[in-house]
Amino acid sequence: MGYHKEYQASIDDPAAFWQEKSSLVQWHKPPGQALSRDEDGHYLWYADGELNSCYLALDYHVENGRGEQTALIYDSPVTGVSRQYSYRELTDKVARFAGALQSLGVCRGERVIIYMPMIPEAAIAMLACARLGAIHSVVFGGFAAHELALRIDDAQPKVILSASCGIEIEKLIPYKTLLDDAITQAEHKVDACVVFQREKLKAELIPGRDHDWQFLESQSEPVAPVPVAATDPLYILYTSGTTGSPKGVVRDNGGHAVAMRYSMATVYGMKPGDVFWAASDVGWVVGHSYIVYGPLMAGCTSILYEGKPVRTPDAGAFWRVCEQYQVNAIFSAPTAFRAICKEDPGAALLEKYDLSSLKRIFLAGERLDPATYHWLKQHTGLPVIDHWWQTETGWAIAGNPVGIELLPTKAGSATCPIPGFNVQILDNKGKGLGADEQGSVAIKLPLPPGCLQGIWKNPERFKAGYLATYDGYYLSGDGGYLDDDGYLYIMGRTDDVINVAGHRLSTGEMEEIVSAHPDVAECAVVGVSDDLKGQVPMALIVLKNGVKTPEGQIFEQIRLEVRQQIGALACLKKIHRVERLPKTRSGKILRRLIRQMADGEDYQTPSTIDDVEVITEISNVLKLVASF
Ligand code: COA
Ligand code: AMP
Repeated sequence: MGYHKEYQASIDDPAAFWQEKSSLVQWHKPPGQALSRDEDGHYLWYADGELNSCYLALDYHVENGRGEQTALIYDSPVTGVSRQYSYRELTDKVARFAGALQSLGVCRGERVIIYMPMIPEAAIAMLACARLGAIHSVVFGGFAAHELALRIDDAQPKVILSASCGIEIEKLIPYKTLLDDAITQAEHKVDACVVFQREKLKAELIPGRDHDWQFLESQSEPVAPVPVAATDPLYILYTSGTTGSPKGVVRDNGGHAVAMRYSMATVYGMKPGDVFWAASDVGWVVGHSYIVYGPLMAGCTSILYEGKPVRTPDAGAFWRVCEQYQVNAIFSAPTAFRAICKEDPGAALLEKYDLSSLKRIFLAGERLDPATYHWLKQHTGLPVIDHWWQTETGWAIAGNPVGIELLPTKAGSATCPIPGFNVQILDNKGKGLGADEQGSVAIKLPLPPGCLQGIWKNPERFKAGYLATYDGYYLSGDGGYLDDDGYLYIMGRTDDVINVAGHRLSTGEMEEIVSAHPDVAECAVVGVSDDLKGQVPMALIVLKNGVKTPEGQIFEQIRLEVRQQIGALACLKKIHRVERLPKTRSGKILRRLIRQMADGEDYQTPSTIDDVEVITEISNVLKLVASF
């Protein structure tokens, strides 16, 4: 069946389409019905099915002749370690660590926070939770203690898993200190922490609360996978919304497993035994779906890379990994390749490696800029495939369905909606727009299996943020258009979310921190274009009258506060003082206008603006800083 036929079948009768696809997965109890609704009218997939996600990722392959195949490769240029785990070894390790968690009282439905660097134990921890039917919540290691504390209070975990340190090139990140700090800040108190001690920096353990990972594991007995309902949560993954409190995206077990199997074949064209490398982090959705669950459920070999695209040791790092492990497909964010291109524009380092195993390069996480697309295409000669998705969906909404048929690509487009996603472009009244008309990108319900089930303990936020704007549709938060051939073009977020070096952050959250500074009267934070990181935050601040502290000192305090509360990745380096902010007559700050002005784009002065003079003032400030 070609793409168009498969896509149409998924739209015409989603229940029948996904009932058939449920056979991609080995169920403990196969579902009788694919699609149903809960008491609030939300769609559920495979509600009466039972399965275990860890079993599907590990034991299933051991039982089916893949026990000796490499499941996971850990490559760590920052420590000089390369280690491989067969499916059998990984199953044993996970089963034993699940026993360790069980001995601490972790059971089905219980939450476990994982705050770890990119070491195999992070994946082992996730799978061990899944084995017990417990719900993991991985917090990206780059987040500061305050962000971790917010997540502890929301998820209320029984146990937190961490490591003594992370390694950022040559810098050590003392995770255990950050963890202790977060636990002090949080109101919810955990029963236990399990800490993986790394050679480079050992952590002090708090008696009675902290456990040494290696010791606990050595004392534990392996446990078998616990079958859970398809609709039981597998994980909560927090993502940035428009406010300071992150949203806990809840993923189920059954729909997710089917989506992982389907997407590995359809979106990435992977077969069992292939080597798939998502150069991301387990703290992000890409890491959940395509470092851990997707490749393992599909019987592939997955790579967990503790390094950077550059400086570990050079811009040839990605190509070295591809050659060394015979990678068949790589997936990363455009920003990673921009960093490589910046350091090795002529791709001389690429020439040093044999990339004959590599068949395709996949990119997502932010807009794929044409320069990066052409650079990659020219120097690798491979298909460079953009695809668009979000933490909420867990897998690609639009892409090039290479497993079905490689569609012709069009620069600037993420190609076509993937089967299951009924993508529509709507105007602000919810009216469908025609070809080439730009509007809000919405997905007609039901979303396919694998997408978010809701927001953890916050059904109202789920409804208000995603379902209430357009009746019967999911609001993606992105703007864009479909062309005559049904190709989708994503033009950027329509809300306060920005993407900094592939990391999703909230400008609203930054504004809350900046406004809390005692000398700041008001502020606006917007995402402005950046050659390397795609976007970086920029703050315009109005200081209170009579402030005596030198401006530079205030800016430095603000930078530090954002770094301490959110994390180093927030990088609020651009801060400019203005006398006032552009606002509508009803007092709403015109953030879009500020962004357009900062990016040097054409803009129209909104008719609702309260005072046009302010535009000249802001424009002068931005021109002045640009001239430095
Ligand atoms: N733990 C602790 N700190 C982290 C971290 C982590 N996991 N990840 C990043 N940081 C810190 C960095 O050390 C840096 O700190 P510094 O300001 O003290 O130097 C800060 O956060 C910013 O880091 P980063 O965003 O990585 O910027 P960079 O300039 O060091 O590197 C890139 C730029 C493009 C090389 C890098 O951002 C990158 O590899 N991006 C790809 C991201 C990615 O793959 N995303 C995938 C999502 S699909
Ligand atoms: P995250 O939830 O961190 O994966 O971020 C999701 C957001 O990143 C999307 O809503 C988009 O704004 C942006 N994004 C992801 N992939 C793409 C892409 N291929 N093209 C354009 N924007 C993208």
